Amino acid sequence: MEIKIFKDYQALSEQAASEIEEVIKLKPDAVICLATGESPKLTYQLLVKKLIDGKIDLSDCTLIGLDEWVGVPPTTEGSCHHFLYKEIFSPLGISENQIHLFDALSGNLFLECQNMDKLILEKGDIDLMVVGIGMNGHIGFNEPGIPVDNYSHVINLDSTTQTVGQKYFAHPTELKKGITLGLKHLLQAEKVVLLANGDKKASIIKETLEGPISIDVPATVLRMHLNAMVIIDEEAAGLLSEKTLLDSQTASNV
Ligand code: F6R
Repeated sequence: MEIKIFKDYQALSEQAASEIEEVIKLKPDAVICLATGESPKLTYQLLVKKLIDGKIDLSDCTLIGLDEWVGVPPTTEGSCHHFLYKEIFSPLGISENQIHLFDALSGNLFLECQNMDKLILEKGDIDLMVVGIGMNGHIGFNEPGIPVDNYSHVINLDSTTQTVGQKYFAHPTELKKGITLGLKHLLQAEKVVLLANGDKKASIIKETLEGPISIDVPATVLRMHLNAMVIIDEEAAGLLSEKTLLDSQTASNV
């Protein structure tokens, strides 16, 4: 696993946008899975600009949403659906047949999971997953304790996720369950880029990079991935040991 530390959120977002751009340039029909949230927001804004300026054609890409809050309508600001349309799909004019998101209002969420897994299988795996990390170490909605061999599934959200998740919504919102790609998708993806910024993420980043690999901190499984990149800012790296810092490429000094 490669760790890259940048001076600030702007610099890490520029790097992350370049990583995504590179995948699209190398493989115009790439299958890309996107997380939502505060961490990748600027990355997506920079990416949109890069792709428009570079006149890069995305019409062969497949774009998959990592997860969704069960029961939250797609039109609600705070849903993953709403975020991805606002930040990426609408600005880039991505056509509907390229977009694959969980329908978290479906009466048959099991079928939603099956359809997502089938799509990924048919596409021959995910080329790039862009993910964030929750305060409890979740990736997507893979909450602590989740088996590593899960594909898409519905999950009861951890109390931390239910509480922290309120930040995306204008009004208090019930966030009891999530629907998400699984850790097995993560481990099988060609490449994974994890983004984290700010000192609030410093403790979980330390656990992720230096603690034991355990499903108690789902993000630690990324250390078993041969092509995973953790892109963080100096604040999120603030508690890392000297050894980890030395092992990492301190990109801000390059
Ligand atoms: C959202 C997602 C979550 C977030 C994580 C960090 O699609 O998959 O796992 O990535 O909760 O959220 P932020 O970036 O808002 O701190």
